[in-house]
Amino acid sequence: MVSGALFRYLWRMIVIAWLIYVPLQLGWLPLSILGAVWVGYKQIVVSRRLGLSQTAIEIINGRWTGDVFGLRPDPWSRRLARHLPNTSTAGLALCLFPLLVARWIAGRPILYPLRPADEAAGLANLVFSRSPRFDQLIEAHRARVEQVMILGAGLDTRAYGPLAATGLSLFELDQPTEQRAKRAALSRAGISSDHVCFVEVDFAAGDWSGALLHSGFDPARPTLFLWEGVTLYLSDADIARTLKTLHLLSAPGSVLLLDLYATRFLALARKGAMAAVLEQTGEGVAFGLDLSSDAPACLDRFAAAHGLRVDAAYFLGSAHRQGPFAVIAALLFEPSGP
Ligand SMILES: C[S@@+](CC[C@H](N)C(=O)[O-])C[C@H]1O[C@@H](n2cnc3c(N)ncnc32)[C@H](O)[C@@H]1O
Repeated sequence: MVSGALFRYLWRMIVIAWLIYVPLQLGWLPLSILGAVWVGYKQIVVSRRLGLSQTAIEIINGRWTGDVFGLRPDPWSRRLARHLPNTSTAGLALCLFPLLVARWIAGRPILYPLRPADEAAGLANLVFSRSPRFDQLIEAHRARVEQVMILGAGLDTRAYGPLAATGLSLFELDQPTEQRAKRAALSRAGISSDHVCFVEVDFAAGDWSGALLHSGFDPARPTLFLWEGVTLYLSDADIARTLKTLHLLSAPGSVLLLDLYATRFLALARKGAMAAVLEQTGEGVAFGLDLSSDAPACLDRFAAAHGLRVDAAYFLGSAHRQGPFAVIAALLFEPSGP
């Protein structure tokens, strides 16, 4: 319980933070724009030139920001981001400097970045709503599994931070170019990845389970499958095929953590500037669920159709009149299969 005096002090600091932030941001605007343009150039143009995922950069930029602003500790993302060719942490800092000053004064972020309640979550704070929910689900399940497989790992650093010391067998799956660039950046950043097994895959092409089994993955051991921020870039057929493969690889006690996006979110991503930007790196969105009415029932139907059962679900943005824009779920594998 916050005492009256402390509450008044905190409130006063937030007001002071706003009073300093507004004129500082106005004066700093050219530098904020310069920082944003520099980050955007690296994310879009350099990613395109190097054949890398710009959506993976979007996420690590968010995790860098969450760490710097004290929303979600992630020193490994912060360190890795400094060594990536397709982002600029100096640009991010330049862009966000006035907000950082306000955060120091207020003792908490104001305006951005924020982590609202799930029902009020929005696109601007997507990473700050999404990643901590996955952290919570990983924490809830990790004692019951022996392996962790991160599908479409991108620049996720969980395998080098919270999961590194658990003794779990760790596997990262991603497309070859993306994975090789990440390994090179990890090495430049001095982050050891010897305990992680990297497997090159393409969920949109053929069967990758042979390569996985060859790499030491043991389908007889319970596994936590983490599929964060990937399903929306795949087709219905790719989703169905990948889930079928996971079924074959899942020993009893395994769990799948994933996020699924609403068709209203996909509609936004297919329009205007967002579509044009995603098009640059060929990362157009494809798979979604119609979560506009009875989202929990829709998720249940999706799970049942793929031989899965919903263990936990968090709907983001459910206060919106068109329903949530995404759901983060823990799904269990039904023994009967898909
Ligand atoms: C938005 S990023 C998410 C990265 C990571 N899961 C995270 O949360 O930081 C999407 C990732 O999915 C990967 N991806 C997209 N399509 C894929 C495919 N067909 N096969 C394998 N990986 C894919 C991309 O390479 C990229 O790393």
